[in-house]
Amino acid sequence: MLGIRRIGKTSLVKVTLNELHDYVTLTINLGRLGSKKSYPMESFSRLFLEGAMEVLRKYTFAGRVSKIIANRLGVNPEDILELNWAKVGVKLREFKTEDVNEVIRALNSIAKDNKKELVVFIDEVQNVKKVKGFDMGSFLHDIYEWCENTIVIVSGSFIGVAEEVLNQVEEERPFYGRRFFRIKLERFDENKSREFLRRGFEEEGVKVDEKIIDEAVKLFDGIPGWLALFGRSYSYSVKHSHPIDVKVVVKEAAKQVSKEFTGFLINSNSPKRYAEIILSLSRLGNRASLTEIRDVMNSLYRENIGDSRLYELLGTLVSYGFVLKAGKGKYSLPNDVPTRLGLKHSAKMWLRKMT
Ligand SMILES: Nc1ncnc2c1ncn2[C@@H]1O[C@H](COP(=O)(O)OP(=O)(O)O)[C@@H](O)[C@H]1O
Ligand SMILES: [Mg+2]
Repeated sequence: MLGIRRIGKTSLVKVTLNELHDYVTLTINLGRLGSKKSYPMESFSRLFLEGAMEVLRKYTFAGRVSKIIANRLGVNPEDILELNWAKVGVKLREFKTEDVNEVIRALNSIAKDNKKELVVFIDEVQNVKKVKGFDMGSFLHDIYEWCENTIVIVSGSFIGVAEEVLNQVEEERPFYGRRFFRIKLERFDENKSREFLRRGFEEEGVKVDEKIIDEAVKLFDGIPGWLALFGRSYSYSVKHSHPIDVKVVVKEAAKQVSKEFTGFLINSNSPKRYAEIILSLSRLGNRASLTEIRDVMNSLYRENIGDSRLYELLGTLVSYGFVLKAGKGKYSLPNDVPTRLGLKHSAKMWLRKMT
């Protein structure tokens, strides 16, 4: 399940699986890793155990899994069930990919005994790249070899990076004859955006001018997360009798993007150049060819960047979704206003900090 941030991947998987009662879902939410460059296996194990505990709380029949985990770690099952990190935390260092798989094998057979299928949902899968010591290839192969009753769903917001992770696993050890489905979630079109807002406001019993809805539809470019944020903030403000301007929500949203892009810059090897690319693109009317970007960078920022290096940097920005390929050799900034503003703001701050 691929799609940019806030397009609704997590919601879609959760809502769907919640409604289907024949599935037990174990979520490993890698979106909860922070913005650092790397994390130890322990961080992964922690998220895995949190997901596993959610399953145990929801399905009493899965209870004996806590004993397996406790055994493996050498702690009491109660400490596991209560996620007592003071006791469990220090032992986590010994929890490896094989142990994760052992737990999944157990859940697989317990689910089967209860006539359900197990779904392992790895949210924001591109973040496995940051986890040192977790072996994605052997993790998936173990499931494919031993867990016939299990389905794996992964989501990725940085589409190019997520694909790279999955392709690498496939290249190292192919999954012969296994079936993969690739779903790409796209943004709402204008009608769907309008319908989404209208229905939301109707449910909230809030009256909204058609003009305001039109404005929001244009600014947020069909991204459900922004539309939902706007809907919530606007309803709240109307109910407290001080209707806010759409721009206030745009600014709030832009702040989130700015934070995300700054996180990306901090971990990258060429933050200055990435920032310059964003600002050059913006200056070129948000859409330009590689040579146009190169010329602006070299004159405006006194860079001396060559085409192949710029091509490489643009490729990285594209795989993170900060820049889009616009066809005919052109690159562009994303179309929604919050993302444009947020990227520009973050890039400006970065360059200012450097001087
Ligand atoms: N189809 C939808 N209907 C209503 N709200 C949605 C829908 N899709 C997403 N949202 C809202 O948008 C926000 C972002 O969605 P999320 O699933 O977290 O996106 P992603 O996982 O792709 O980053 C959430 O607050 C969610 O409530
Ligand atoms: Mg998500």
